[in-house]
Amino acid sequence: MRREAPAAARNRDPILAVLQRYLPSKGLVLEFASGTGEHVVHFARALPALSFQPSDPNETARASIDDWVKTLGLANVAPALALDAAAASWPVAEAAAILCINMIHISPWAATEGLLAGAGRTLPPGGVLFLYGPYRRNGVSTAPSNEAFDADLRARDPAWGLRVLEDVAALAAQNGFGAPDVVEMPANNLSVIFRRI
Ligand SMILES: C[S@@+](CC[C@H](N)C(=O)[O-])C[C@H]1O[C@@H](n2cnc3c(N)ncnc32)[C@H](O)[C@@H]1O
Repeated sequence: MRREAPAAARNRDPILAVLQRYLPSKGLVLEFASGTGEHVVHFARALPALSFQPSDPNETARASIDDWVKTLGLANVAPALALDAAAASWPVAEAAAILCINMIHISPWAATEGLLAGAGRTLPPGGVLFLYGPYRRNGVSTAPSNEAFDADLRARDPAWGLRVLEDVAALAAQNGFGAPDVVEMPANNLSVIFRRI
């Protein structure tokens, strides 16, 4: 049941390098949109003092996540939960950090609204919300590859598409987060790191 996404194999080490700078030394890391599960098992192997809670609304994805965890024998990754970021309440009351990689452009804006509201409820002061993916930025021209990706996403679903970083940051501020740290990543992606105030 394990699935593989070539992009996850390419970006997991650059993302891990950023996470190692921002994640706390212990506590629960809640991941939304875990997909194949390749990211969470990579991070969990590298950061054994942290506990990881993967999730995805897609049943096939959850089976892949759980299969990766079982295959690698990881004790610090819980069984994947069926979580929709847009839900008005989440079954996880508190987490030290929240990860969401490559979701907010492949879901309606309501998923981003739910993610930021839920993160505001779930993270303690100083808690980290880590987002990763391609963005538009006000006053900065978007890379041609990202323009093409955006057009492809909108053709698949008009509610999808690259988000404007400043819009996401404004919504985060409304939910109790400070201005983000932004780290430029390979292939014109960004790591965007918010801290709960
Ligand atoms: C492009 S995949 C990214 C998977 C993985 N994070 C990665 O980067 O390889 C997008 C994922 O978002 C999940 N997703 C879509 N809408 C969601 C929502 N409202 N809440 C949580 N996850 C969602 C999908 O099920 C899918 O697994």
